[in-house]
Amino acid sequence: MWKIHHAFLFFIFTICWIPPCRGIQLDVSSQDSIKQTARTIAKDMISFYVGDKPGQTPGILLKPYYWWQAGAMWGELIEYWAATGDTHYNDLVSSSLIFQAGADRNFMPQNASNEEGNDDQAFWAFAAMTAAELNFPDPPEPKPQWLALAQAVFNTQARRWDMESCGGGLRWQILFTNPGWNYKNTISNGAFFQLAARLARYTGNQTYTNWADKTWDWLASTPNLTPDYRVNDGSDIKKNCTDANGIQWTYNYGTMIMGAANMYDISTGAAKEKWKSRIQGLLTQAESVFFPTKGPDNDPLSPNVMVEISCEWSKLCNPDQTSFKAYLSRWLAATTQLAPFTKEKILPKLQASAAGAAAQCSGGDTGTKCGRNWNMAVWDGYNGVGEQMSALAVVQANLIGTTRKPVTEKGGGTSRGNPNAGMGKQVELHYGAITTRSKTGAGILTALIMIVTIGGAWWMVDDGYTPKGLKRISTHPPWARY
Ligand SMILES: *[C@@H]1O[C@H](CO)[C@@H](O)[C@H](O)[C@H]1NC(C)=O
Ligand SMILES: *[C@@H]1O[C@H](CO)[C@@H](O)[C@H](O)[C@H]1NC(C)=O
Ligand SMILES: *[C@@H]1O[C@H](CO)[C@@H](O)[C@H](O)[C@H]1NC(C)=O
Repeated sequence: MWKIHHAFLFFIFTICWIPPCRGIQLDVSSQDSIKQTARTIAKDMISFYVGDKPGQTPGILLKPYYWWQAGAMWGELIEYWAATGDTHYNDLVSSSLIFQAGADRNFMPQNASNEEGNDDQAFWAFAAMTAAELNFPDPPEPKPQWLALAQAVFNTQARRWDMESCGGGLRWQILFTNPGWNYKNTISNGAFFQLAARLARYTGNQTYTNWADKTWDWLASTPNLTPDYRVNDGSDIKKNCTDANGIQWTYNYGTMIMGAANMYDISTGAAKEKWKSRIQGLLTQAESVFFPTKGPDNDPLSPNVMVEISCEWSKLCNPDQTSFKAYLSRWLAATTQLAPFTKEKILPKLQASAAGAAAQCSGGDTGTKCGRNWNMAVWDGYNGVGEQMSALAVVQANLIGTTRKPVTEKGGGTSRGNPNAGMGKQVELHYGAITTRSKTGAGILTALIMIVTIGGAWWMVDDGYTPKGLKRISTHPPWARY
């Protein structure tokens, strides 16, 4: 055994001097090296996209990727442009966002209705918000405008605030017919919090500030956000949100940190101190959860390399989850601009994680496709849109020091807004928000499900609270989030 083991290590060591195996050699102290690395990873990322080919639908990714992830990918490419100056993907990004804005210009295209929750809608809104904040080229009117699109999503979600259980909050799902309707989760509420905070900062409108405060306070009133800043995944409405699913994801922490950083930036006095200590609390927790100092076999790890701790080592990450490290990376980077006191803690993490991610980019057909495990020097055999997104986000995050701070409406922003956007009649018609009609429908549906369940059905609509329960439901889109 001993000999085989050593022969194997020697083999790896030897062949790993051949460039493809060693991954992309990233020098995080060199702007050129970071840009070149980002360019390579972006190219492999977009190779998964076929929406611009004849007969395909613009703006979306093919299965196994859900609608939301494409929105997140376009947002990342806006940041790519802002960080590197490479305009190569701009037209594609612009036309994709506009195509998927839908008839009501609020990112609720009818095709997505069977898989679109509040969180999914929010990731498209983030792309539009990022476009406004980074002065991404404005589409010619009368095409939809970036700020107005973000406001439209905010407006549709504020209207869904639900006082019927848990003292408030957003449900995960928009439609009662989608599994997850009875779950008030952190990403939906945390994304709404972040969107409100960014709109507050961009527009200066107090309504958004109030909603950001209210949404933070609601999350903190549930076990989803604990007094010591642990961020859990979500709560069951049937238990009136008295306990939480304790699984921890990078993007849940990321959205809270990003929202808090925007609030910090626009606050003064005691409020600023309050947001500062919230950011510090969240960062301390995120550091202890996602930057482990020991690996699964107790082997020592760099304390600065990000790990998606709830699925990476167990090799159970689904295609959604492989992209989560992208969001923590980009939101940590933006936080250093909005709340500069965080630089000392965050920047070493972005550097070490980027070097680890680049070393993973040595696989697949191109020899540069990225794997998942940023602590491994050799490609781990995975590749996909999520892996590319996570690697690209953390690499380009290292350009944050030379990227312009997000603009505001009065501070250089050019995007045109509309505080009443997205509220067209068709919203109800297409999508049935929370109306009396849909509640009656919910009753009928429940009755139908009872019949089907008694008849020995293999799935149940409401049993999605624990990961254990989820295993029974492997085919329906929203459940795959776990
Ligand atoms: C909806 O799906 C149809 C059929 O695939 C397609 O032609 C159309 O472009 C899609 N619309 C959007 C907004 O994705
Ligand atoms: C549910 O929780 C909310 C907020 O904590 C509380 O106001 C309400 O009374 C609770 N409802 C029930 C039925 O326990
Ligand atoms: C502020 O935002 C709210 C909510 O969207 C809107 O109703 C109001 O008109 C806005 N105020 C201004 C001055 O734009």
